[in-house]
Amino acid sequence: MSYKILLLPGDGIGPEVVAEVVRVLHWFGKNRGFSFATQSALVGGAALDAEGVPVSEATMKLAMDADVVLFGSVGGPKWDANTFDKKPERALLRLRKDLGLFANLRPALCFDALKDASTLRPEIVSGLDILIVRELTGGVYFGEPKEITDLGNGERRAVDTQVYTTGEIQRIARVAFELARLRKNRVASAEKSNVMQTGVLWREEVQKIHDTEFSDVQLSHILADNCAMQLVRAPKQFDVIVTDNLFGDMLSDEAAQTAGSIGMLPSASLGAKDKNTGKARALYEPIHGSAPDIARRDLANPLASILSFAMCLRYSFDRIDEANLLERSVEQVLDDGLRTADIMQKGKTQVGTKQMGTAVLATLNRLSN
Ligand code: IPM
Ligand code: MG
Repeated sequence: MSYKILLLPGDGIGPEVVAEVVRVLHWFGKNRGFSFATQSALVGGAALDAEGVPVSEATMKLAMDADVVLFGSVGGPKWDANTFDKKPERALLRLRKDLGLFANLRPALCFDALKDASTLRPEIVSGLDILIVRELTGGVYFGEPKEITDLGNGERRAVDTQVYTTGEIQRIARVAFELARLRKNRVASAEKSNVMQTGVLWREEVQKIHDTEFSDVQLSHILADNCAMQLVRAPKQFDVIVTDNLFGDMLSDEAAQTAGSIGMLPSASLGAKDKNTGKARALYEPIHGSAPDIARRDLANPLASILSFAMCLRYSFDRIDEANLLERSVEQVLDDGLRTADIMQKGKTQVGTKQMGTAVLATLNRLSN
């Protein structure tokens, strides 16, 4: 089995963190009998500069043909003033939409070594392990109409459309329930059914899928604003949170900060399983952005990207032992006291991006012997 992997490093610190993932990839190739072929392409601002679009048709084709996409980050001040269609972020939205990556998995895990790094008290966050399952190809991100119109009287009017179908809600609910069964078997579904029709439908459909297919899983419904509050009050009450595209965007940033450092958190975006091959399209990326202020200075934390590759081993390659090994290696490196600048603490050893990658490789060797 040989995997086709497309690397889309992107902008800012993206290329630096993806470079460390490539080293990890080669380690698994050499030591764990993985066969893979990688290709690399431009995306985001880098693609705008060189190819005039956030993601070219040629790159989209490579992404469609790949088994998995490993994504860095996009965006930066250079392109901030661009018109809507020429924003680097459009690349990510197009990839999600065209590859059908409707399920976005965002774990918020507090590593024991980093429990003092959160802005919340250590006892609130230590041992935290929640998974946000965000719907990623629907809702207000993509609903039509989506426009700004001139009203002719000196006023303009903007509209974004929040829209969900039962099918879209049901398939993301199934993903959340299935994952909950592998964890603590609890799902909290977050919406605004008190003010939004999409929230009413969301709640009804999630309940229906639960009652007919997953009645063994504990389901609760929570209003999204209350969920935001509970995430900083008592985050450990949650196991899996399933929510729509926009609420998921916000709640996952909040959960990430709760867990300590956004530089540590991975994500997976998955499509539907192909009926014949059982394989699903997938894109893996760190939760953090392009951090242009620290780009090319060997300061970026590559661990979120490396942990995203662990998710790839788990969800796309079905190599659970290897995924566990990689996650344990990252944890061990933290326990050994190594820190990049973003998670630096008193008494620890500060290292750069490359040194952090090297430490993970050394620990992989150590733990697998
Ligand atoms: C995210 C990001 C994106 C989003 C941006 C970059 C388009 O914030 O992945 O959470 O809003 O989905
Ligand atoms: Mg976001």
